[in-house]
Amino acid sequence: MKIKFRFSFAAVLVIPLYLTFLAFHTDIAQASDDAYDVKVPESKLAEVKALKNVVASNKKSLSEAKAIYTGKGTCFNCHGEKGRGDGELASSFEPPPRNFTLSGWQKVRSDGELFYVITNGTESGMPGFGDMLSDEEKWSLINYIREFGKSKSLASRK
Ligand code: HEC
Repeated sequence: MKIKFRFSFAAVLVIPLYLTFLAFHTDIAQASDDAYDVKVPESKLAEVKALKNVVASNKKSLSEAKAIYTGKGTCFNCHGEKGRGDGELASSFEPPPRNFTLSGWQKVRSDGELFYVITNGTESGMPGFGDMLSDEEKWSLINYIREFGKSKSLASRK
């Protein structure tokens, strides 16, 4: 009798509650994982990851990159001046423009993957800058994006 009661308790209450929890939990995890989903097609990933940044990161190249980021590159309109993904146009995108200050995201991305995305864009809103920016300009921008991920960065200085 006692065993039977426990079983029906589980079946009627606990199992549906658990399934509801699972459904919601999966949804939430999905939304926040978008930023970390790989943006390069599987077939190109190895080749792209092997690309090497040819621009040295120093005061001069970073200040040139900042001028592109806040100027003709228009990056700041979406990614925000401080790289937090909070630019003026940010709210029209899902997933939102990447927040470059996320250290977890910085760690999982190679320079080559960033180069690919800046060149080709993504399916969900990041425009491709293919011929609009030279390769050198793109690599400088990548050094600048890396600065946003450091707490005491050259990029966050005025
Ligand atoms: C019109 C808005 C817009 C502009 C302008 C823009 N971006 Fe983005 N960017 C996005 C959005 C939206 C995403 C997120 C897309 C996604 O997750 O698929 C993104 C993602 C990225 C990523 C992350 C890619 C990854 O692998 O996670 C990088 C790097 C990036 N942008 C660099 C730049 C640079 C550099 C510029 C300027 C040259 C720029 N973006 C300009 C909207 C923009």
